[in-house]
Parts: sequence; structure tokens; C-alpha cells
Amino acid sequence: MTELGPKPGRPFRAQHVAQYFQAGRPLTMLTAYDAMTARIIDAAGVDMILVGDSYGTTMLGMDSTVGVTLDDMVRATGAVTRGTKRALVVGDLPFGTYESSRAQAVDSAVALVRAGAAAVKLEGGRRMAAQVKAIVDAGINVMGHLGFTPQSENQLGGKRMQGRGDAAHEILEDALALQEAGAFAIVFEMVPASTTAMAAKKLNIPIIGIGAGPAAAGQVLVWCDMAGMQDWKPSFAHQFGNVGAELSRAVLAYRDAVVNGTFPATENFHQD
Ligand code: KIV
Repeated sequence: MTELGPKPGRPFRAQHVAQYFQAGRPLTMLTAYDAMTARIIDAAGVDMILVGDSYGTTMLGMDSTVGVTLDDMVRATGAVTRGTKRALVVGDLPFGTYESSRAQAVDSAVALVRAGAAAVKLEGGRRMAAQVKAIVDAGINVMGHLGFTPQSENQLGGKRMQGRGDAAHEILEDALALQEAGAFAIVFEMVPASTTAMAAKKLNIPIIGIGAGPAAAGQVLVWCDMAGMQDWKPSFAHQFGNVGAELSRAVLAYRDAVVNGTFPATENFHQD
């Protein structure tokens, strides 16, 4: 039986994504925005790390992702790449850096690859197919993103499910266009499970779901949501740990120790 995935010590590549998909082995992806978190996610054997533009709404405290710049993403992608040995790092193209033309899309994708990304992700279906093809033709792996696409939140009328009823067909047409343009995988965000299942039957590239049900070939979550870093988490995310509570406990303990005079203790300093 052929071993799935890269040999020990070798990176997980787009070819391995296809290999897992064909073998029916679920794909795992989490976001990260810095080297420290990427190191933990990579060491756990997660297949792909998405340097999502959710960087803006998580780490940068923004209300939406539209304020994230290419420079922001280059800096975060470089940091994540430096913390990663095995996982395939996907850099997210931020709003306003790929929509205008194929040349703009290729230039922005090149900037993320130069920062260390092994693939880029962009939002949109048929309307972005030319950009996807141009980036793929430039030798860069592209992941699509359909359903709720946060960069178009204003146009979509807020954060809501996409692809219900007749709109399921629109999602399928978009997915087929991305596949045809050369995308190696597509994120489906906030799409009914029935729509995902219908599309999964027609596509020969994997769907990576987030709030899209169990028929997706893989799952992605924002690490802060799954690790309990924020008071709020989307209903489709499961909290697998409570890092935020543990961090609060450590910070309170530190503050109390300094105030009480128990830190620094003798083992924490040299007299001379
Ligand atoms: O930016 C991001 O984190 C994403 C995921 C939600 C898929 O695009």
C-alpha cells in the first residue's frame, strides 16, 4: 500500500492535497498569523496553514477584512512560513489586490510567494476565473473561496449563508469555473451541507469547508475560534480548547506575583 503524504521531513504539497482527496483521507487546515502559533499547528501535523486575511479581524482588531493590505499579508505570511516545516502555507490575497486585472493578481500572488507561501487563496468564482488562470499560468497554486466571502460582505448583505435553494446552482457554476481555471482546492464558507454535498459529487478537486457540512473533503477553522481566544465564536466553529482562559489565568497570576512581591524570586535573578 502506498504511503499517503510526504516522506518524513519533507513538505506537504498541492500534490499531496490531491493524493489525500483521491484516497478519501480528510484534509486539515487552520489559520495562523505568526511564527509561534504556526510552529504549534505544524508540529501537530495539520496539513495546511492558511494565513487568512482574518488576520485583520483577529490580530489587528479590525471590524472587517477589507482594511488588510498586501504588506500586512506579506509580513504575516513570512512569519508563518518561518514557523512551519511541513504544512502547506496558503497566503490569502487581501481585498483590492487582485480584482482589477490579471497582472495585478499575478503581481500580488508573487509577493506572497516571495514571502514564503506555497499557494495563494482568493475570493470569488466565475468573475475571478481569469485571475485564477493567470496566477496558475505564472506557476503558483491557487485555492478558491466561495459561499460567504468576507471581502464582499457589504454586497452579500452581511454575514449570512450562501448557496441556499436556487443559489446552489450558482455556487456549483462558480466552483466548476475555478476548477477549470486550475484551482487545486476551494474553500466553501457558510454553505448549506446539501449544496456542498451536491458540488462535491461534481468536482474533481477538494472542497475545504468552514460551516459547510461533512461532505467537504477537508475542514478549515480560524485558530482563535477553535482555541477559545475570543468571547464570540461563529456557530459553525467548535471550541477544542480554552487557551484564552489559560492565558488570562497566567496574566493574573503574574500581575498578583509582582504586586505581592513573590516575583522575581531568588531563582529569577543573579545578585551580581
Ligand atoms: O481569512 C480567513 O481566515 C479565511 C477562512 C475563514 C477560510 O478565509
